[in-house]
Amino acid sequence: MQAQPHPRPPSSLSVEHARIGIEPSPIEVAHAQSSDAHAILQLYKQVLSEDKWFITHLEEFVGTVGWQRRIIVELTRRENACCLVARIGETVVGVVTIQGGRLARMGHVGKLETFVGAEHRGMGVGQALMRRALDWAEANPSLGKLGLYVFEDNDRAVELYRSLGFEVEGRRDGEYRESDGQLRADLLMYRWV
Ligand SMILES: CC(C)(COP(=O)(O)OP(=O)(O)OC[C@H]1O[C@@H](n2cnc3c(N)ncnc32)[C@H](O)[C@@H]1OP(=O)(O)O)[C@@H](O)C(=O)NCCC(=O)NCCS
Repeated sequence: MQAQPHPRPPSSLSVEHARIGIEPSPIEVAHAQSSDAHAILQLYKQVLSEDKWFITHLEEFVGTVGWQRRIIVELTRRENACCLVARIGETVVGVVTIQGGRLARMGHVGKLETFVGAEHRGMGVGQALMRRALDWAEANPSLGKLGLYVFEDNDRAVELYRSLGFEVEGRRDGEYRESDGQLRADLLMYRWV
């Protein structure tokens, strides 16, 4: 028998207003649909092409639209996982995913990842996504803790996580080496939910 999707709140979760321009543009945060796969993949590739925020180089990334679609379906079906997108108008401008562990002992820990397109940063999109993701996690009895990895020098992301109650659990010195030989550290951050 096919697994049934975990019951969800209505797909459109919230509308906030981007801090841009004279007229605020509403930021809508909702559960991703499989039809968002192409837009999410394009946005992720744009962020990877900046080559600063994630460990994967763009040329190492092999994801396809079909793969992205399967990820959205899987995260939507799993009780301890979700994929939320932020839209301004029709445009997908940011994504957050939470993936709870697959093994019984780790099912209560959700690994969180988020990104916002470069053109739409600093306008409150990341905060809107994170707040909805935290609301979703707080309301989910199968989750007890959220965790994430972030480059130590990613000030904006670290500040956003701290402002939402995440604390540093550990630091891994020299965990990554850039092509110029420079070593970078990352932080493990966590928050109880
Ligand atoms: C990190 C990221 C998701 C934040 O999203 P955003 O939409 O730019 O962030 P917001 O506009 O909602 O700002 C959220 C908070 O970040 C902090 N912040 C924003 N700009 C900042 C800056 N230049 N320096 C330090 N902190 C900053 C502030 O605390 C801000 O809250 P405030 O506006 O109430 O003061 C986004 O910048 C991004 O996708 N960056 C590239 C990918 C990435 O780093 N992902 C995370 C990997 S772990």
